[in-house]
Amino acid sequence: MKPYNGNLLQKIKEFKLERNAIILAHNYQREEIQQVADFVGDSLELSRKAADSDAEVIVFCGVRFMAEVAAILAPEKTVLLPDHHAGCSLAAMVSVADLRQKKKEHPRAAVVAYVNSPAAVKAECDICVTSSNAVAVVNSLAAEEIIFVPDKNLGSYVAKQTGKKVILWDGYCATHHCVTREDVANARRADPRALVMVHPECRPEVVAAADYSLSTGQMFKLARETENETIIVGTETGVLPRLRQENPEKNFLPLSPKMVCPDMKLVTLIKLLLALVKMRTPVEVPAEISRPARRALERMLAVV
Ligand code: 13P
Repeated sequence: MKPYNGNLLQKIKEFKLERNAIILAHNYQREEIQQVADFVGDSLELSRKAADSDAEVIVFCGVRFMAEVAAILAPEKTVLLPDHHAGCSLAAMVSVADLRQKKKEHPRAAVVAYVNSPAAVKAECDICVTSSNAVAVVNSLAAEEIIFVPDKNLGSYVAKQTGKKVILWDGYCATHHCVTREDVANARRADPRALVMVHPECRPEVVAAADYSLSTGQMFKLARETENETIIVGTETGVLPRLRQENPEKNFLPLSPKMVCPDMKLVTLIKLLLALVKMRTPVEVPAEISRPARRALERMLAVV
C-alpha cells in the first residue's frame, strides 16, 4: 500500500509558488519525487534546464555535483539540495592534488572531466562531459591524448569509441560496477529475445555483452522507439517506474536489483518540503572555482 501524501504534495506546490522555485529531479530519484518535479532528466538535460530556467530558486533533487553544476551555470539563482549528505562516491574518487600530479606527468594531454566530479576538479579541466555526450565531446577535441577523470569504465568506453589514447583514472560508480557479464548472460538466458541496455558506467565487459550503452535520457528514448517487448535495464533502478508508466505495453526488468544508489534515495518528499520552507541546503561554489569550472561546462554545452 502506498502512503497518503496529499497534504505534503499540496504544501510543496504552495511553497514552490511562494519561492518562485522550480523542482529538478534526476532520473534516479524516488518515484514520488519524480512525480512532483517540474522536470525529470539525465545529467545533461538537467544542466541545460538549470541554465535556462527563469525561476529564482532551483531545488535540485539529485546529488551534490549536479546541484553544483546548476549553481555554476545559474549563479544568480539560489540552488538548494534537499539533503546535504547526498554526495557521489564516484565524484569523491578524484582530488585536485592528484589531478595536478597527473597533468604534470602528461603535459600534452587534454583533461576531460565527467560531470560526476567536484566543482574544484572541473575547474582544473579543459572540458566536461556527461554520459550522453562523452564520445562526441572527446571526438571534438584536437588532442589525441586525453586524461579522463574519474570514471574508468566511461573512460574505457570513450577510448574504444573514439580511438584516442585515454589515460584512465581509477574511479568507478559502485552502483554500476557491481554488475557482471554473468548478470547479462543470466538475463539473456531467461529471455533470449530481450533487449539489453546498460549505462556506460558499467564494466567494459558488461557494456560489450549488452545491445546498447546509453545515458539514462537515451534509455527513455530507446524504450519508446524499440519494438522489443522485454527490455533489461542496466542502470540505477529509479528509472524503472517511469519507463513502465510511459511504455505500459512493454516489460522492463532490472539487470540486477542491487543497482540502487543510496545517495540518490536520500531525497524524500518531507526533505523536499523542508528545503522550500527553510531554504536549505544552499549550494554555493566560490567564484575562483566557479569561473574556470563554468568555462569547462560551457565548452561542453557548445559541442552538444
Ligand atoms: P546520466 O548522464 O544518465 O544522467 O548519468 C548520471 C549518473 O550519475 C550515472 O550514475
